[in-house]
Amino acid sequence: MYNSWEELELNCRKCEKCALAKHRTNLVFGYGNKNAEVLFVGEGPGENEDLQGKPFVGRSGKLLDMYLHSIDLDRDKNIYIANMVKCRPPQNRDPKPEEQDICIDWLREQVRIMRPKIIVCLGRIAAQRLIHPDFKVTKQHGEFIDKNGTLMMGTFHPAALLRNPNNKGDALDDFMALQEKIKQVCKHTYDEV
Ligand code: URA
Ligand code: SF4
Repeated sequence: MYNSWEELELNCRKCEKCALAKHRTNLVFGYGNKNAEVLFVGEGPGENEDLQGKPFVGRSGKLLDMYLHSIDLDRDKNIYIANMVKCRPPQNRDPKPEEQDICIDWLREQVRIMRPKIIVCLGRIAAQRLIHPDFKVTKQHGEFIDKNGTLMMGTFHPAALLRNPNNKGDALDDFMALQEKIKQVCKHTYDEV
Protein backbone atom coordinates (compact mmCIF):
# COMPACT_ATOMS: atom_id res chain seq x y z
CA MET A 1 0.00 0.00 0.00
CA TYR A 2 1.23 3.45 -0.88
CA ASN A 3 0.61 6.62 1.02
CA SER A 4 0.40 9.00 -1.89
CA TRP A 5 -0.39 9.02 -5.57
CA GLU A 6 3.13 10.27 -6.32
CA GLU A 7 4.73 7.39 -4.41
CA LEU A 8 2.43 4.93 -6.18
CA GLU A 9 3.23 6.33 -9.62
CA LEU A 10 6.97 6.39 -8.98
CA ASN A 11 6.99 2.75 -7.93
CA CYS A 12 4.68 1.63 -10.72
CA ARG A 13 6.94 3.24 -13.31
CA LYS A 14 9.75 0.93 -12.22
CA CYS A 15 7.59 -2.21 -12.33
CA GLU A 16 9.00 -5.35 -13.91
CA LYS A 17 6.59 -7.79 -12.28
CA CYS A 18 5.33 -9.40 -15.49
CA ALA A 19 6.70 -10.32 -18.91
CA LEU A 20 5.20 -7.21 -20.56
CA ALA A 21 7.91 -5.06 -18.92
CA LYS A 22 10.58 -6.08 -21.39
CA HIS A 23 8.63 -5.05 -24.50
CA ARG A 24 7.65 -1.57 -23.38
CA THR A 25 8.96 1.75 -24.63
CA ASN A 26 6.99 3.64 -21.96
CA LEU A 27 4.79 2.45 -19.15
CA VAL A 28 1.31 4.00 -19.30
CA PHE A 29 0.30 4.75 -15.72
CA GLY A 30 -2.75 6.83 -16.64
CA TYR A 31 -3.74 10.39 -17.41
CA GLY A 32 -6.11 12.98 -16.07
CA ASN A 33 -7.21 14.56 -12.82
CA LYS A 34 -6.32 12.25 -9.93
CA ASN A 35 -8.96 14.01 -7.80
CA ALA A 36 -11.67 13.11 -10.31
CA GLU A 37 -14.85 11.34 -9.25
CA VAL A 38 -15.07 9.38 -12.51
CA LEU A 39 -12.46 6.82 -13.57
CA PHE A 40 -12.34 5.22 -17.03
CA VAL A 41 -10.51 1.91 -17.41
CA GLY A 42 -9.38 0.57 -20.79
CA GLU A 43 -7.56 -2.59 -21.66
CA GLY A 44 -3.91 -1.79 -22.16
CA PRO A 45 -1.62 0.48 -24.15
CA GLY A 46 -1.41 0.12 -27.93
CA GLU A 47 1.46 1.22 -30.13
CA ASN A 48 0.87 4.98 -29.89
CA GLU A 49 0.25 4.81 -26.16
CA ASP A 50 3.47 2.85 -25.66
CA LEU A 51 5.40 5.44 -27.68
CA GLN A 52 3.89 8.46 -25.88
CA GLY A 53 3.36 7.02 -22.39
CA LYS A 54 -0.27 8.19 -22.32
CA PRO A 55 -3.55 6.27 -22.59
CA PHE A 56 -5.87 6.48 -25.61
CA VAL A 57 -3.83 8.79 -27.84
CA GLY A 58 -4.50 7.05 -31.17
CA ARG A 59 -7.64 6.94 -33.31
CA SER A 60 -9.69 5.26 -30.60
CA GLY A 61 -8.59 7.99 -28.19
CA LYS A 62 -9.94 10.67 -30.53
CA LEU A 63 -13.28 8.89 -30.61
CA LEU A 64 -13.25 8.51 -26.83
CA ASP A 65 -12.58 12.25 -26.44
CA MET A 66 -15.57 12.99 -28.69
CA TYR A 67 -17.88 10.95 -26.45
CA LEU A 68 -16.35 12.53 -23.35
CA HIS A 69 -16.75 16.06 -24.66
CA SER A 70 -20.37 15.38 -25.65
CA ILE A 71 -21.17 15.12 -21.93
CA ASP A 72 -18.75 17.80 -20.71
CA LEU A 73 -16.03 15.43 -19.58
CA ASP A 74 -12.43 16.24 -20.36
CA ARG A 75 -9.31 14.23 -19.55
CA ASP A 76 -7.50 17.48 -18.78
CA LYS A 77 -10.15 18.55 -16.26
CA ASN A 78 -12.61 16.24 -14.59
CA ILE A 79 -11.85 12.57 -15.22
CA TYR A 80 -8.98 10.08 -14.99
CA ILE A 81 -8.16 7.38 -17.57
CA ALA A 82 -6.25 4.19 -16.72
CA ASN A 83 -5.86 0.70 -18.13
CA MET A 84 -6.04 -2.89 -16.87
CA VAL A 85 -2.38 -3.39 -17.74
CA LYS A 86 0.18 -0.59 -17.81
CA CYS A 87 2.51 -2.01 -20.45
CA ARG A 88 1.74 -2.80 -24.08
CA PRO A 89 1.04 -6.43 -24.95
CA PRO A 90 3.03 -7.39 -28.07
CA GLN A 91 1.11 -7.05 -31.37
CA ASN A 92 -1.76 -5.54 -29.38
CA ARG A 93 -2.93 -8.97 -28.26
CA ASP A 94 -5.31 -9.16 -25.28
CA PRO A 95 -3.47 -9.00 -21.97
CA LYS A 96 -3.27 -12.55 -20.57
CA PRO A 97 -5.23 -13.33 -17.40
CA GLU A 98 -1.98 -13.87 -15.52
CA GLU A 99 -0.64 -10.50 -16.67
CA GLN A 100 -3.85 -8.86 -15.50
CA ASP A 101 -3.65 -10.75 -12.18
CA ILE A 102 -0.21 -9.27 -11.55
CA CYS A 103 -0.87 -5.77 -12.85
CA ILE A 104 -4.27 -5.27 -11.22
CA ASP A 105 -2.58 -4.40 -7.91
CA TRP A 106 -1.52 -1.08 -9.45
CA LEU A 107 -5.08 -0.31 -10.55
CA ARG A 108 -6.37 -1.35 -7.12
CA GLU A 109 -4.06 1.17 -5.50
CA GLN A 110 -5.11 3.85 -7.98
CA VAL A 111 -8.74 3.19 -7.03
CA ARG A 112 -7.97 3.03 -3.31
CA ILE A 113 -6.29 6.44 -3.36
CA MET A 114 -8.68 8.09 -5.85
CA ARG A 115 -11.89 6.71 -4.37
CA PRO A 116 -13.88 7.36 -7.57
CA LYS A 117 -17.66 7.46 -7.32
CA ILE A 118 -18.07 5.93 -10.77
CA ILE A 119 -15.86 3.53 -12.74
CA VAL A 120 -16.54 3.14 -16.46
CA CYS A 121 -15.10 0.00 -18.04
CA LEU A 122 -14.16 0.52 -21.68
CA GLY A 123 -14.69 -2.85 -23.34
CA ARG A 124 -14.93 -6.51 -22.45
CA ILE A 125 -11.51 -6.98 -20.86
CA ALA A 126 -12.06 -4.35 -18.17
CA ALA A 127 -15.77 -5.11 -17.69
CA GLN A 128 -15.25 -8.85 -17.26
CA ARG A 129 -12.43 -8.29 -14.82
CA LEU A 130 -13.96 -5.46 -12.78
CA ILE A 131 -17.72 -6.10 -13.00
CA HIS A 132 -18.43 -9.76 -13.74
CA PRO A 133 -16.49 -12.59 -15.46
CA ASP A 134 -19.45 -13.25 -17.80
CA PHE A 135 -20.12 -9.58 -18.63
CA LYS A 136 -21.51 -9.22 -22.17
CA VAL A 137 -20.93 -5.70 -23.48
CA THR A 138 -23.59 -5.99 -26.19
CA LYS A 139 -26.23 -6.97 -23.62
CA GLN A 140 -25.19 -5.17 -20.42
CA HIS A 141 -23.63 -1.95 -21.67
CA GLY A 142 -24.89 1.16 -19.89
CA GLU A 143 -26.10 -0.68 -16.75
CA PHE A 144 -24.87 0.68 -13.43
CA ILE A 145 -23.96 -1.83 -10.73
CA ASP A 146 -23.13 -0.82 -7.17
CA LYS A 147 -19.98 -2.59 -5.97
CA ASN A 148 -19.16 -1.70 -2.37
CA GLY A 149 -20.35 1.86 -2.85
CA THR A 150 -18.71 2.43 -6.24
CA LEU A 151 -20.97 2.55 -9.28
CA MET A 152 -19.60 0.42 -12.11
CA MET A 153 -20.67 0.58 -15.74
CA GLY A 154 -19.38 -1.15 -18.87
CA THR A 155 -19.57 0.25 -22.37
CA PHE A 156 -18.11 -0.40 -25.82
CA HIS A 157 -14.37 -0.05 -26.30
CA PRO A 158 -13.77 2.86 -28.71
CA ALA A 159 -11.59 0.63 -30.92
CA ALA A 160 -14.55 -1.78 -31.18
CA LEU A 161 -16.74 1.16 -32.24
CA LEU A 162 -14.27 2.01 -35.00
CA ARG A 163 -14.54 -1.58 -36.24
CA ASN A 164 -18.29 -1.72 -35.78
CA PRO A 165 -19.88 1.75 -36.10
CA ASN A 166 -23.38 0.24 -35.76
CA ASN A 167 -22.94 0.41 -31.99
CA LYS A 168 -22.09 4.12 -31.89
CA GLY A 169 -25.67 5.13 -31.06
CA ASP A 170 -25.83 2.70 -28.16
CA ALA A 171 -22.48 4.03 -26.93
CA LEU A 172 -23.82 7.58 -27.01
CA ASP A 173 -26.84 6.44 -24.98
CA ASP A 174 -24.42 5.00 -22.39
CA PHE A 175 -22.63 8.34 -22.13
CA MET A 176 -25.95 10.16 -21.74
CA ALA A 177 -26.85 7.74 -18.92
CA LEU A 178 -23.43 8.41 -17.42
CA GLN A 179 -24.07 12.16 -17.50
CA GLU A 180 -27.32 11.67 -15.56
CA LYS A 181 -25.61 9.40 -13.03
CA ILE A 182 -22.81 11.95 -12.52
CA LYS A 183 -25.40 14.64 -11.82
CA GLN A 184 -26.97 12.34 -9.22
CA VAL A 185 -23.91 11.09 -7.35
CA CYS A 186 -20.92 13.33 -8.05
CA LYS A 187 -20.23 16.53 -6.16
CA HIS A 188 -17.72 18.50 -8.23
CA THR A 189 -17.32 16.81 -11.63
CA TYR A 190 -19.39 19.40 -13.43
CA ASP A 191 -17.99 22.36 -11.45
CA GLU A 192 -14.60 21.92 -13.02
CA VAL A 193 -15.67 22.29 -16.65
N1 URA B 1 -6.86 0.90 -25.93
C1 URA B 1 -6.90 0.73 -24.59
O1 URA B 1 -7.59 -0.12 -24.08
N2 URA B 1 -6.17 1.55 -23.85
C2 URA B 1 -5.41 2.52 -24.34
O2 URA B 1 -4.78 3.22 -23.57
C3 URA B 1 -5.38 2.67 -25.75
C4 URA B 1 -6.10 1.84 -26.52
FE1 SF4 C 1 4.27 -4.27 -14.14
FE2 SF4 C 1 1.81 -4.14 -15.12
FE3 SF4 C 1 3.86 -3.47 -16.66
FE4 SF4 C 1 3.46 -6.01 -15.99
S1 SF4 C 1 2.09 -4.74 -17.24
S2 SF4 C 1 5.41 -4.93 -15.92
S3 SF4 C 1 2.67 -5.84 -13.89
S4 SF4 C 1 3.18 -2.41 -14.78
